[in-house]
Amino acid sequence: MPKPIQIAPSVLPADFSKLGDEIRALEAAGADRIHWDVMDGQFVPNLTIGPDVVASTRSHTSLPFEAHLMVLDADLLAPRFIEAGCSRLIVHAEACTHLHRTLESIQSMGATAGVSINPHTHYHVIEQVLDLIDLVLVMTVNPGFGGQSYIATMEPKIRKVRDLINKAGLSDKIDLEVDGGISATTIAAARTAGANVFVAGSALFKDPKGFSHAVADLRSRAEAVVTA
Ligand code: DX5
Ligand code: ZN
Repeated sequence: MPKPIQIAPSVLPADFSKLGDEIRALEAAGADRIHWDVMDGQFVPNLTIGPDVVASTRSHTSLPFEAHLMVLDADLLAPRFIEAGCSRLIVHAEACTHLHRTLESIQSMGATAGVSINPHTHYHVIEQVLDLIDLVLVMTVNPGFGGQSYIATMEPKIRKVRDLINKAGLSDKIDLEVDGGISATTIAAARTAGANVFVAGSALFKDPKGFSHAVADLRSRAEAVVTA
């Protein structure tokens, strides 16, 4: 059974003076999980939140937390984000010298692991670790900032990753997530290419009709795509 469509709000654009309220509102709006964009100012030219911020919101929602670790040293930070309440950690293939070991370590701490690949990175980097992950994140922007334009040339890569997952017989185990520029105008193309989890920040926080409209609209547009 293929993994379901999921909408995973990035809280990068949230009002951090009321982060708990924002997360509760996203849950009420029908979001499936919360996507934390963690940036260290080294791997990407931006610095965002640490594990204590995540921990401070854990009791405000029952939604699963996933941490998108855009950091140079995922081995150092992984335990902290698991302690903070993240059930899935997504590491960048480009930042992990020993990716297989890092993924095994995340699993040994009781979380599930995902691998993110930047626009320039070939999807072959994940071929040898499919048995250790439950998510592949194909970046549809260059990481570091919200509000960027969707890179449509990533769609052939999304399709190849989808075919790789399906050929390995892992379509019921591994999510294919996209992150960056996902909106009402781009989600159908990303779904057609094979994605099933959609990270969105600006599309949710800038919708004048609010979170419920934004989540429902994105979900319906993805569900309307007939996939092969
Ligand atoms: C990039 C971030 C963004 C964010 C979503 O490093 O990962 O992609 O989550 O940003 P929007 O949805 O505003 O493009
Ligand atoms: Zn992200």
